[in-house]
Amino acid sequence: MKYYIKTFGCQMNVYDSGRIANILQSLGHEATPTIKDADIVIFNTCHIREKAAEKVFSDLGRYNQIREERLSEGKSTIVGVCGCVVQAEDEQIWKRAPFVDFATGPLTYHRLPEILARVMRKRGDFVIDTDFPAEDKFDFLPENHASGACSYLAIQEGCNNFCTYCVVPYTRGAEYSRPVEEVLKEAKRLVSEGCLELNLLGQNVNSYHGEDSSGKERSLAYLIHKLAELDGLKRIRYTTSYPADMTDELINCYKDIDKLMPYLHLPIQSGSDKILKAMNRRHTSGDYLRIIDKLKEANPNIGMSSDFIVGFPGENEDDFQATLDVVDKVQYIQAFSFKYSPRPGTPAAIMTNQIPEKIKKARLEILQNKLFDYQNKFNQTSIGKIMPVLFETQGRHAGQLIGRTPYMQNLHAELSKDNLNKIVKVKVTAATTNSLTGSFIGE
Ligand code: 5AD
Ligand code: SF4
Repeated sequence: MKYYIKTFGCQMNVYDSGRIANILQSLGHEATPTIKDADIVIFNTCHIREKAAEKVFSDLGRYNQIREERLSEGKSTIVGVCGCVVQAEDEQIWKRAPFVDFATGPLTYHRLPEILARVMRKRGDFVIDTDFPAEDKFDFLPENHASGACSYLAIQEGCNNFCTYCVVPYTRGAEYSRPVEEVLKEAKRLVSEGCLELNLLGQNVNSYHGEDSSGKERSLAYLIHKLAELDGLKRIRYTTSYPADMTDELINCYKDIDKLMPYLHLPIQSGSDKILKAMNRRHTSGDYLRIIDKLKEANPNIGMSSDFIVGFPGENEDDFQATLDVVDKVQYIQAFSFKYSPRPGTPAAIMTNQIPEKIKKARLEILQNKLFDYQNKFNQTSIGKIMPVLFETQGRHAGQLIGRTPYMQNLHAELSKDNLNKIVKVKVTAATTNSLTGSFIGE
């Protein structure tokens, strides 16, 4: 059968979709780039904000027309929903999209062979699996393979932080770190297949504490040192980190390990200590800024990124101003910012001091303008510099490749296809807020 997977949300979902594809391939199914041709369609979903979750249902509704057209041509389709929406919505999925055949949460998709077999045995039934299973899904997944020069590698999953706005501890469950040997084995395989850049993933990746073969718990810093020893591997990144888990050992990696890219996504969420406390974050803005100072000491060229939430319950003008002040101090080279979105079942959703939508919207606009200004400024300072760029994809125009600088900036260059999946030196010739243009200098 032919399958098509549509992925919503974060990088962990992109990784999970890759692993779901591994399963489907191991069952003899084949990917198609066209959803209309697919006999199995899977939506891998995100529940982080209301908009993300609602998009899943509107896209499912739209897809249903294609499914019905196929049906009128005598072709049946198996429709599945995976990911965080399943964990949060449970049977509601089927109520809102009754044509869905199966649903499985982010911790149970290794059971897909069994789930698909059940669906095929008895069409028309709805099969759902939202367990928090005792077994480790990674033990049951087929091998992961590199699909290019950049690979994600999940090393940690779940979160114990319980920020009061966030669904992740409920959808992805408690923190779990994969054992060191298992991570190294997957990394070695990916590198042997041509992977040059590894992005280590986890909802709270810097709290990593996987066991080594002697049963000793090891840190993310240890893992990065080990991975840096792999000859073919050229670049290491990790995301997403929690400020309170930014240890000195990890910060020192920015001084000692050239392969660790000088770019760190470290969400602060808000600059106000009052709001950080209401969010149940285990850090103040002062703690956060001290971490940044240490990072800059370890590597003065480090570029910072963050996530921000505006309009959290109780946020007043002073609190919002404190967020803007942090942005001015850190001068992020890139950042994500969101309006607070109440999520059912989280403590913040029932706080009484909710902020009106109009104010959230106005604050987001002010914050984003400031963030874009700094991002643009950083990109402008890149002009004239020579940077190593890893080219990952072909551009829209013939003869154009798109790659990433060490700072995760997108860079376009007129280059032959031979440079795809390679790191080459490029001189930056132009910049906008969202991307750079460059010309080839050499290997
Ligand atoms: N509302 C708005 N933004 C949220 N995030 C998480 N939960 C919410 C919410 N309820 C943001 C945080 C987090 C990022 C992945 O999504 O900034 O870091
Ligand atoms: Fe959610 Fe991140 Fe907070 Fe965990 S640390 S609860 S994933 S925002």
